[in-house]
Amino acid sequence: THTWNFTTGFVNANPDGVYERDDVIGLNGQWPLPVLEADKGDRIELYLTNGFEDYNTSLHFHGLFQNGTNSMDGPELITQCPIPPGETMLYNFTVDQVGAYWYHSHTAGQYGDGMRAAFIVHDGSDDDDFPYEYDEEFTFTISEWYHESSVDLIPNFMSRFNPTGAEPIPQNFLFNDTRNFTWNVEPSKTYKVNLINVGGFVSQYLWMEDHTFKVVQVDGVYTQPNETDMIYITVAQRYTVLIETKDDTSRNYALMQRVDDTMLDVIPKDLELNGTNYIVYNESAGLPEEYKVESLDIFLDDFWLEPLEAQEAYPDPDYQIVVDVAMDNLDDGVNYAFFNNLTYVAPKVPVLGTVFSAGEDAINPLVYGSNTNSFVLEKDEVIEIVLNNLDTGKHPFHLHGHVFQTVVRGPDYGEESTPVPYNASEAHDIPENPMRRDTVYVNPQSYFVIRFKADNPGVWFFHCHIEWHLDQGLALVLIEDPLSIQSQQNLDDNWKRMCEVNNMPYVGN
Ligand code: C2O
Repeated sequence: THTWNFTTGFVNANPDGVYERDDVIGLNGQWPLPVLEADKGDRIELYLTNGFEDYNTSLHFHGLFQNGTNSMDGPELITQCPIPPGETMLYNFTVDQVGAYWYHSHTAGQYGDGMRAAFIVHDGSDDDDFPYEYDEEFTFTISEWYHESSVDLIPNFMSRFNPTGAEPIPQNFLFNDTRNFTWNVEPSKTYKVNLINVGGFVSQYLWMEDHTFKVVQVDGVYTQPNETDMIYITVAQRYTVLIETKDDTSRNYALMQRVDDTMLDVIPKDLELNGTNYIVYNESAGLPEEYKVESLDIFLDDFWLEPLEAQEAYPDPDYQIVVDVAMDNLDDGVNYAFFNNLTYVAPKVPVLGTVFSAGEDAINPLVYGSNTNSFVLEKDEVIEIVLNNLDTGKHPFHLHGHVFQTVVRGPDYGEESTPVPYNASEAHDIPENPMRRDTVYVNPQSYFVIRFKADNPGVWFFHCHIEWHLDQGLALVLIEDPLSIQSQQNLDDNWKRMCEVNNMPYVGN
């Protein structure tokens, strides 16, 4: 068992070396936050105390299935009541997956303000089943960085003074919560490196001077080894790669990052799109220059990755959810995001509470309210989500509680053309051994199709992982096998207390 006690609070930090903020969210007065590590099978008892004066908080363990422990998943008003100032919530669950995950607040704006870090689960057994040899393991995060607090940016972003929904432009891009990070390596070694985009907005490209990435695990799923010069990583995605170092220590090399600037509404002149980090073999050899590439189109197409352990491609689905994504204004002049003309509005009580209070009616989507975008899934059904992106932006979508098979992804239709929806009667290239992951992007004005089996009873959020778009309501709720949730899981006193202190009846809606 790991017992961790954390209290949230604002700390001073200056990760980009340009501007010191006094409202970065730390734990126990520290930022960057600790990398949490556990072995498969370990029990986690994480006590999170809300040390803010005016804000609620919550914590989500991104990528963990929480099988049987849905009430520990974290998103407020989905699986729990928010944690109000001064209160403590116990997150109590067992990890039974191996790989690179991360933890972050699931309360608006907070992870952009720093409340996020890696969560690494090791195999732990003597015969570590990691299928590749390596000498040492490192974990590196990337993210964008703002000089202003996201919590403060949200009200302006979501106002009639921002009718186009233009996302705030970050001031910088971090590597391991700093700029120009130095990675000290030894010659002739194989390093296992977990790369995690813990940002809340832009994707980034990563490449190295004279070294290659061998991708071996993605979002916790082992892949057939795939060697590439460049990785493209959206927010919330994880790539575990093997990097072989050279036998010669006469010089050092650049490890580059670059923001996908097509996701930015405007590109300020002084914004540095490339960031240079250093692979250092030799401290006295001097640091390399920026290492440029001719084209960014050489990144690994993650759609065609194959899992090491093949799982049969799911057959035609039992249940299909077709959603159109659009961004538009409502009468208040504010720009919102929609799934099928519905913008997600959080319910008054957590959806999971309603599952328990609704009795047999829990299978009726109407009990969850009309603005939560709720879908009820039956036990063990194969679910297909067809997502048509009518918007000109790229969106990384994340499903809680599962990895899904990536079945089809349409090409980038850019900003010029009109949206091209998925057409099932056309021929599509479908992978025989489809990749499984928990976050995947959809191209502008294009589509994707994903499938998963409803074999994890719980209330699972499905949303765009861009913080701004989630604030705009780009989310839906899957209520998977609610009667099994009622019969197999429970809401413990710690969970109920969180609702009581909010004066939230968790029963009823
Ligand atoms: Cu990182 Cu709702 O998730």
